[in-house]
Amino acid sequence: MSPHLLSVDSLSRERVDHLMRVAARMEPIAQRRQVTRVLEGAVLGNLFFEASTRTRVSFHAAFCRLGGSVCDTTGFTFSSMAKGESLYDTSRVMSGYCDAIVMRHPDQGSVAEFAAATHVPVINGGDGPGEHPSQALLDFYTIDKEFARLGKKLAGAHVLLTGDLKYGRTVHSLIKLLSLYDPMRITLVAPPGLEMPSHLIDLVASRGHRVEERASLADDYADVDVVYTTRIQKERFTAEMSEGFSLSRDFTVDRAFMDKRCGRDTIVMHPLPRDSRPDANDLDVDLNGDPRLAIFRQTDNGIPVRMAIFATLLQVEELIEKDLRPV
Ligand code: CP
Repeated sequence: MSPHLLSVDSLSRERVDHLMRVAARMEPIAQRRQVTRVLEGAVLGNLFFEASTRTRVSFHAAFCRLGGSVCDTTGFTFSSMAKGESLYDTSRVMSGYCDAIVMRHPDQGSVAEFAAATHVPVINGGDGPGEHPSQALLDFYTIDKEFARLGKKLAGAHVLLTGDLKYGRTVHSLIKLLSLYDPMRITLVAPPGLEMPSHLIDLVASRGHRVEERASLADDYADVDVVYTTRIQKERFTAEMSEGFSLSRDFTVDRAFMDKRCGRDTIVMHPLPRDSRPDANDLDVDLNGDPRLAIFRQTDNGIPVRMAIFATLLQVEELIEKDLRPV
């Protein structure tokens, strides 16, 4: 088993199932109904060279909930990479200070390059348009919990992925993770030029799933169980793509879309952040308060899932049971 979590490629269905079970056991600790100090004395290096709220803070909180401490650096300006230090040197140095490292970086493959230089577990917190495996795990945990609440099964489910499927690393990791499970139907709807990379479509189809690309949300999606929408990642556009790009309302998930096109128990997910600027046409705030909107249940799930990732990578999951104490 890889000591790192860099890509969903390193996960088997059995390992995902195990992480889901460990995450469920972490819930009382995540909600501070129980306390453990199992990682007391351990230090997490939280290195974020690209903007983040959820991933950075929830990894930090998850490590603290297990009793550990966190050192962090945010942005290139406040790290010695601003002075030309390489990923290799940064990795070797941080390995002497930390027991685990979470890293986000704008370049695809950079977290794997960093991980190759260290013996401590490294978690990919997002490498450019590459992957975001911990997000896929918390997304999957959310789908599992929502389906249990709704009496639904994953096998045969219909999942709609929409938004920026080209640069959205969360959907790249999620589609790979879903493909480990029994055949389901996956519909992809992206604006022109932002379609899911063909190698991922081919991978999922080769594992027996029915994958269909559609050009617009103006269709009937009554049998869709999950609508997973993503922000348009304009920061990753080339200058040519940026020129004149504006997202039509036809790609917006809002109350009208949900009421007219989807079912009463279709859940809506988004990795967040959602872009609230007027012309962004991201997931509409008119769904706030709608029980189908699972986005804040999804963010809450980030803590137990990230605790489970630490517990398994640092091999303390069995110790936690013995160390549990009341608040
Ligand atoms: N979902 C996610 O990665 O959010 P942040 O960019 O805020 O970490």
